[in-house]
Amino acid sequence: MTNSPTRPVALITGASRGIGRAIALRLAAAHDLVLVARDADHLASVARDCEASGARVQTLALDVRDGLATATALTGLHVDVLVNNAGVAVMKPFLEMTAEEWNRQVDVNVNALYHVTRALLPGMVQRGHGHVCIIGSTAGRNTFVGGTCYTGTKHFVMGFAESLMLEVRDAGVGVSVITPGSVATELFPEGTNTAWMLEPANIADAVAFAVTAPPHMLVHRLEVRPLSPKRPRSSF
Ligand SMILES: NC(=O)c1ccc[n+]([C@@H]2O[C@H](COP(=O)([O-])OP(=O)(O)OC[C@H]3O[C@@H](n4cnc5c(N)ncnc54)[C@H](OP(=O)(O)O)[C@@H]3O)[C@@H](O)[C@H]2O)c1
Repeated sequence: MTNSPTRPVALITGASRGIGRAIALRLAAAHDLVLVARDADHLASVARDCEASGARVQTLALDVRDGLATATALTGLHVDVLVNNAGVAVMKPFLEMTAEEWNRQVDVNVNALYHVTRALLPGMVQRGHGHVCIIGSTAGRNTFVGGTCYTGTKHFVMGFAESLMLEVRDAGVGVSVITPGSVATELFPEGTNTAWMLEPANIADAVAFAVTAPPHMLVHRLEVRPLSPKRPRSSF
């Protein structure tokens, strides 16, 4: 697939809702967008909102766990900013976690980083310009009961991001990892008290800060937390 951008192009995975949607809306002011997720209807709705800010928007209904489909859809696209945001969380005791729940988290939070980044990074390196931003989590350096797989995947993100940063920064490509604390999204089960949490737009602001930093400056890690969280003590 190819595209002919007029503004810098940002591709955001998991753009159909939550943090990814907020990132799309925030970057729409200065970027053209490629929005990726599985839910085509939600993507179309986010696209309409972004177009109101002047962005040209392409939507791709894609399951990023599918390596072949991802490579086919993304290879050759001109993308200046990649935001690897898609993620899933199944928080429950290890002994209650099914193989499907385990594999889904590893496939979306870890393996999709390979599929998506592998398709788009060569173009950035070739152009000597680009930015890969990954939405990690404070769960990438903390742990909690019920977080065996999720915290494991987010710890992986930290190692992957720093190693990739060292590998490609001399080629003019920046790598950032944004690590939010709790954010009010559908990542949490229905009925969760999210009133004390960050808003998705707060994380979008952090992403915008990282990807629009001056050319000589690399924001590699940025941790964003709620101030004075009024949460139950057992929460993370
Ligand atoms: N919410 C928090 O407290 C929090 C804190 C720290 C970090 N994070 C991280 O922030 C990121 C976004 O999470 P969120 O809170 O915004 O969750 P969310 O509201 O559940 O949104 C998740 C997004 O990922 C997409 N997605 C899931 N599986 C996918 C797949 N197989 N292929 C393509 N897209 C897929 C979903 O779209 P479709 O269902 O349409 O495919 C959706 O757009 C995740 O990486 C999460 O780990 C969240």
